[in-house]
Amino acid sequence: MIRITYNKDLGSLNTFGMKVKAACYVVYSEAGDLPQMDWDKLPQPILPLGSGSNILFTKDFPGTILHSDIKDIDIIEQRSRGDEVYVRAGSGVVFDDLCAWAASKQLWGIENLSAIPGTVGASAVQNVGAYGVEAGDVIDSVICYERSSGQFVTLNAEECAFAYRDSIFKHQRGRYIVVSVVFRLTALLSPQLEYGHLREAVERNIELMAPSTDPYPVLEPHAVAMPLSVKLVRDTVRIIREEKLPDPAKIGSAGSFFKNPVLSRESYLKVCGIAAEAGRDKVPHFELEDGNVKVPAAFLIEMCGLKGKKHGGAGVWEKQPLVIVNASGDASPDDILQLKNEIITAVNNKFGILLSPEVDHI
Ligand code: EPU
Repeated sequence: MIRITYNKDLGSLNTFGMKVKAACYVVYSEAGDLPQMDWDKLPQPILPLGSGSNILFTKDFPGTILHSDIKDIDIIEQRSRGDEVYVRAGSGVVFDDLCAWAASKQLWGIENLSAIPGTVGASAVQNVGAYGVEAGDVIDSVICYERSSGQFVTLNAEECAFAYRDSIFKHQRGRYIVVSVVFRLTALLSPQLEYGHLREAVERNIELMAPSTDPYPVLEPHAVAMPLSVKLVRDTVRIIREEKLPDPAKIGSAGSFFKNPVLSRESYLKVCGIAAEAGRDKVPHFELEDGNVKVPAAFLIEMCGLKGKKHGGAGVWEKQPLVIVNASGDASPDDILQLKNEIITAVNNKFGILLSPEVDHI
């Protein structure tokens, strides 16, 4: 079914809460709706939008917002004696609902991505990532509608060209409309706990949650003799995120506003020098295989003294300064843009590093 609304208020349809309008808003509930659409009659351009959780609308949108309401989740194939499970999820499924579904089936692979706002379709476009896992690591293929040919096409992971918060879908905007995504999950115990203090946090929760009085614990298939489960990792990730990130139900934001910059070793050493002068002898960093170093933008922003900084209704989130929030609930796109520029300028002046936004600006 296709539903078309003109002059649509987008205030509740973008997590930043920008009070803007779209000339047209189209919701479709099945893949078969797409070839039926009279594309040329719709206001242009066409913009697919999931939960609007990684976007900054800088003004009213003159074209058509296309929203998927395809919400099926199915196991489509099992391989390697049933351990490898291929799950197809509709592009309109809320990504965290898929994580909850996987946890309920004891399937590993996306538990570290729990509580990331957004939809399954957006997870492929944006190659969302958290706690050492990126969607692209577990995406087998993406099924899309190609408007120019009027055909459905399946892109395998290589064709999707996944990179850090990047994919082919970001570079060929409007060409593909994501209909569903096939994830390769596994029933074999495969926690991925190497990021930061995740292992420590999970182990602490194992102790807290372990049933100490049950002399005959029931073991799940493939389980080891401790209650380490997909759900346990998922719940731990959710708790960590809740502690650091603003509650999307209360404060508008689009998650991380900037990407973490990749620095040459020389530039990284320069950061270390400036940090040492300020009394910080350790710079958090992640060594890349090519010799470059990824440094958290949050650290650079913090070093510029910008935690909690406000501009109009916009603010830098105190507990995670990589996040710009709609602090007053009434921030204008301009407030956000000015605060963004202030951050970019401060970090560039102090470290000679140009931060680039992660959030799409429309
Ligand atoms: N840090 C500071 N000061 C702070 C906060 C953090 O110096 O106030 C430093 C700490 O050293 C910390 C490091 O930054 O160890 C990393 O922080 P965190 O684990 O919160 O991750 P991040 O690099 O800031 C990235 C993603 C997040 C994702 C987390 C966890 C990007 C742009 N962001 O943030 O993704 O949840 O890792 O994996 O890569 C998002 O994309 O919207 C998002 C929230």
